[in-house]
Amino acid sequence: MNIKLVKDGVEKSDNNLSVVFMTEKELKTDKNFKMLERAGFKAEQDTTCFLYGKNTLFCGVEDTTPDSVRSTCSVAMKAIRTTTYKSATFAVNETTLKAIVEGVVLGGYEYTQYKSSKKKTKLKNVYLTNENIEVLSALFEEAVVVAEATNFTRDIVNQTPEDLNPPSFAKLAKKLAKENGLECEILGEKELREEKMESMLAVGRASRHDSKLIHLTYKPKSPKRVVSLIGKGLTYDSGGLSLKPATSMVTMKMDKAGACATLGMIKAASELKIDSEVHVFIGAVENMIGGNAYKPDDVLVTRSGKTVEVRNTDAEGRLVLADVLDYAQDAVNADYMFDFATLTGACMVALGQYTTGVMGHSSKLKHNISKSAGVAGELTGSLPFNKHLKTLLKSGIADISNTASKPYGGAITAGLFLDNFIRDENKKKWIHFDIAGSAYTETPWDCNVYGGTGAGVRMISEFLKSFKQ
Ligand code: BES
Ligand code: ZN
Ligand code: ZN
Repeated sequence: MNIKLVKDGVEKSDNNLSVVFMTEKELKTDKNFKMLERAGFKAEQDTTCFLYGKNTLFCGVEDTTPDSVRSTCSVAMKAIRTTTYKSATFAVNETTLKAIVEGVVLGGYEYTQYKSSKKKTKLKNVYLTNENIEVLSALFEEAVVVAEATNFTRDIVNQTPEDLNPPSFAKLAKKLAKENGLECEILGEKELREEKMESMLAVGRASRHDSKLIHLTYKPKSPKRVVSLIGKGLTYDSGGLSLKPATSMVTMKMDKAGACATLGMIKAASELKIDSEVHVFIGAVENMIGGNAYKPDDVLVTRSGKTVEVRNTDAEGRLVLADVLDYAQDAVNADYMFDFATLTGACMVALGQYTTGVMGHSSKLKHNISKSAGVAGELTGSLPFNKHLKTLLKSGIADISNTASKPYGGAITAGLFLDNFIRDENKKKWIHFDIAGSAYTETPWDCNVYGGTGAGVRMISEFLKSFKQ
């Protein structure tokens, strides 16, 4: 499916569907009001009504904010894809353009890789029309790049753990690097051992796949700042010997979503020619069971030299990130350091399934990033650190424990665990994003459909763009 911004009204024909957004108020004065009323259409948010005779799809919105438009547009796309129309036309303006691009590209996304018979949609072209395309074209191109980078992330998250394992993840990163002119360095287990990344290596020990550290770099001509993006890349999280119950294990292919998001972010940054140097560091590991598995009671020596008592092998993401964060701080002196991880079920308990947890030491940075998230249409919630929760990570045998002694505030104690590996000079530059809830869904919401959502990609793309203005 192609999406194009065009000047003139697309020729009316039986092959082309016009899509019209309207509020309840607008409905009352519309020339088709009688017919729409008869069809039971009330212009409520996320509802649509086809008038086939007029080749028009009416879409209800509670207001004309981008959030409302994007959501209804996503509902509309699902309806349009099942029709026989070859094209659809949306009138856009400066406020709705980005939301409609997202509704079309993200709401119209479907993952069919593993379906033997792919239902092909007849829809070939989506036209966005406006008189002033010269003014809107840059905005349009940017929105398409970011939405497609989000779908790129979704595609990887949705791959099965058999297809997407640490070595194939590294291959995929290499391919992206080649296509987008990025530098790429991969560390295998030999190099990880030389780097003393014993914490990360322990998590992957029972897997039949070698663990990999992936480092990608996007370098513009004269970068204005340096940003490090660190991703949890658990290609499967069985829980290890602290095995997950059967129902909790399902969907744990998505435990690589943080890593997949960082790939989407660097893809977008390079295509938008962002003026920041961007580094991605991914710890790609599979957490499995077996005679060779790491165990509760083990004490691991991390790359930083700090020792960690393993009390639960299912709290593995923080063990991988401890080493990757430490490595990233030696590799580059970044102005911003953001990590993305499906780290805790507790984050979902705290904030719900739709919201990304934001943790860090700089209120200003947390505020700025949440602002970018809002503009990008992503939900974030700040989870505050405090010294009392920090004491819950004390260990009787090692420097710290990988699980807190009390279950409450589990997302924050996980964030505080990571904080142990952030050096003093970097504390204010760092933010930890817990995307356990927001990265994956089995029921559609907003512009998200079944599977990976690409959480984080739109937010960070917006943050990186925000320096330009
Ligand atoms: N990958 C999980 C967290 C998770 C849970 C992500 C549900 C998405 C959906 C993580 O590795 C994990 O298992 N965390 C444990 C930590 C606990 C053992 C301290 C959890 O959340 O239960
Ligand atoms: Zn786990
Ligand atoms: Zn995990």
